Amino acid sequence: MNRRSFIRNTFVSMATLIGMSGLSYYYAREIEPEMLRINNETITANHIPHSFNDFKIIQFSDTHVGFHYTEEQLTELVSKINKLKPDLIVFTGDLIDAPHEYKKTKQISEILYNLQAEYGKYWIYGNHDHGGYGTQLVHDIMEDAHFHLLQNSHIPIQRGQDEIILAGIDDVILGTPDLPATLKNVNEELFTILLAHEPDFADTTVNFPVDVQLSGHSHGGQVRLPFIGHLYTPTYAEKYIQGKYRFNQDKLLLYVNKGIGTTRLPFRFFCQPEIHSYTLKSNP
Ligand SMILES: [Fe+2]
Repeated sequence: MNRRSFIRNTFVSMATLIGMSGLSYYYAREIEPEMLRINNETITANHIPHSFNDFKIIQFSDTHVGFHYTEEQLTELVSKINKLKPDLIVFTGDLIDAPHEYKKTKQISEILYNLQAEYGKYWIYGNHDHGGYGTQLVHDIMEDAHFHLLQNSHIPIQRGQDEIILAGIDDVILGTPDLPATLKNVNEELFTILLAHEPDFADTTVNFPVDVQLSGHSHGGQVRLPFIGHLYTPTYAEKYIQGKYRFNQDKLLLYVNKGIGTTRLPFRFFCQPEIHSYTLKSNP
């Protein structure tokens, strides 16, 4: 290779690299955050009552409205969730990225009010909801949207003569989580789902009569590189990052939702935003 072609090849390689990184930047900022994925999961257990066969629970998490996630996008999300015809909807925390800076609270509750589920809509606090003086503000938004708060409490979900338990714990980082209080007086024979914002809390949950823990918080890392995986996840999402985990010979299942929005940096790369759709199946 002569000197001129060496310089030309080096220049082309560098330009390609810069172009690629520019494309990756554009993709991670503008394209992937919009690529909502619906993850369908089937949960089968002996003690899911027959009347709950095909009961559909939709989980969405970590919308972080206000940080590169708009009210228009939230409206689209609501219509996508309604099209899935959920029986029950759960939101696992981090509604607004910085509650003390956010002004359009009324608009958010009007949008979320439109979510429809025959067996109700439930939510728990995440760290961003308590952070930034958001505790009361987010509480009021969700109440106006007809979401019921589970804060160290549980509720029976009844279908026909049967029931399952839906429980929710206060945020682990900035709240006062109390799992014994959450499950107080729960019949251990009943199928029990726990909402807990931070997935690593499953290491505690496994010692209690809980069948499934639904979490968010990790955002899947937001940026995942081939062969390497995530580069960063927040505290209490350092062990369990995304997808499904089994504990204690399937006594407890943990599902970690990668969330909808972004925080800190407005990027998603190999880490699409997602909704989880869980279909319950009783063993024959
Ligand atoms: Fe979050």
